Amino acid sequence: MIIRKAKISDVEDIHKLITHYASEGLMLPRARSTLYECIREFSVVEIDSKLIACGSLHIVWADLAEIRALAVAPKYTQLGYGRALVNTFLQEAAALELPRVFALTYQPGFFIKCGFRLIDKEDLPQKVWKECVNCPQFPNCEESAVIIDLD
Ligand SMILES: CC(C)(COP(=O)(O)OP(=O)(O)OC[C@H]1O[C@@H](n2cnc3c(N)ncnc32)[C@H](O)[C@@H]1OP(=O)(O)O)[C@@H](O)C(=O)NCCC(=O)NCCS
Repeated sequence: MIIRKAKISDVEDIHKLITHYASEGLMLPRARSTLYECIREFSVVEIDSKLIACGSLHIVWADLAEIRALAVAPKYTQLGYGRALVNTFLQEAAALELPRVFALTYQPGFFIKCGFRLIDKEDLPQKVWKECVNCPQFPNCEESAVIIDLD
């Protein structure tokens, strides 16, 4: 397994993976244009030269970053790759001296296993909701907010 920063040539595979879960309503769809713009935020997991997982760390403010677009290909779930990506983002956040990382998710149980805790969505700053306006579920979203403090 290799965890590495994403490259431009990964965009098609990332788009396919996210679109798969977005079609099941599990995550927000991402346009290719958005992926190109944000590609430097992405890391991926590669096995035998095949991209099997992706995710991104988006900086929101001086004290807050968000894990976004986290997805592990269906055949590779429950094998620790999601946690490995989350840990990569937490290390990245710590290196940037960001004190807190959050996620909005339909899988809070997974994030709790990764050390996050549930919080009230209202406790997150308004700036966080910028992207939500483009979501088909807005404003009746059932996602949970989870957060971790980095020491
Ligand atoms: C959620 C997701 C990223 C988890 O990745 P994964 O590689 O399967 O998770 P891991 O194998 O690293 O699991 C780490 C731990 O969390 C647990 N876990 C995994 N998915 C879980 C879930 N949906 N609910 C509760 N616990 C979960 C695992 O059992 C494991 O527990 P353990 O420490 O006791 O062994 C993956 O299932 C996925 O891509 N889902 C669809 C897209 C999605 O919902 N993304 C999240 C959007 S923010």
